[in-house]
Amino acid sequence: MNLTIPESVKVWSQFLHPTIMWVILALSIYALYLGIQVQRTRYADGDIKKELIKGRYNVKHYQIGSVLLGLMVVGAIGGMAVTYINNGKLFVGPHLLAGLGMTALIAMSASLSPFMQKGQNWARFTHIALNVVLLGLFGWQAVTGVEIVQRIVSKM
Ligand code: HEM
Ligand code: HEM
Repeated sequence: MNLTIPESVKVWSQFLHPTIMWVILALSIYALYLGIQVQRTRYADGDIKKELIKGRYNVKHYQIGSVLLGLMVVGAIGGMAVTYINNGKLFVGPHLLAGLGMTALIAMSASLSPFMQKGQNWARFTHIALNVVLLGLFGWQAVTGVEIVQRIVSKM
């Protein structure tokens, strides 16, 4: 099969992944806020607890978390696809490796959901630990990602 992608589509598609990833970074920070509220709700008592329960933070966190999982997997595969289309290869460097690592981390983190919902503390601690690493790597990806964007722009 000979599939020819127009040059302009090839070039401009390189900005899709970085844009989606900034949206995902904002969503991750929102997920962190919701997760902290989930924890506050669990440890609170009396009227404060009643008020926090009304926020339905556990439901919102699970929804945002699920969207995050989907977008991150698609975003990482998309980044690799666009890199391959434009360069005929992938660059086995820090951005690719940390990106694949993050994709694995979020899958593991999400897979703990049924155990957290059963009230298992080991699952909560593991979920938090995985996500701390995830957010740390995200900061790193943002830096290396912007460097790649600068390289792409300088070649245009
Ligand atoms: C940036 C990513 C994320 C962060 C920072 C984060 C953080 C947290 C935190 C702090 C908690 C509270 C744990 C506790 O109660 O002690 C939590 C709970 C939970 N998280 Fe996440 N999370 C993230 C992503 C996800 C994803 C991707 C999913 C699933 C698709 C998810 C599903 C859940 C569930 C089901 C709970 C338990 C809620 C409950 O107690 O009902 N989270 N998360
Ligand atoms: C704000 C953050 C980020 C920016 C600005 C950014 C930027 C970029 C850019 C410009 C590329 C080149 C390909 C393209 O333009 O489509 C790229 C590739 C890639 N990105 Fe990101 N990225 C970010 C975050 C992430 C995250 C969070 C992941 C993984 C979860 C990721 C995974 C990848 C992968 C796997 C590639 C292919 C690399 C290669 O094969 O050489 N990126 N990124």
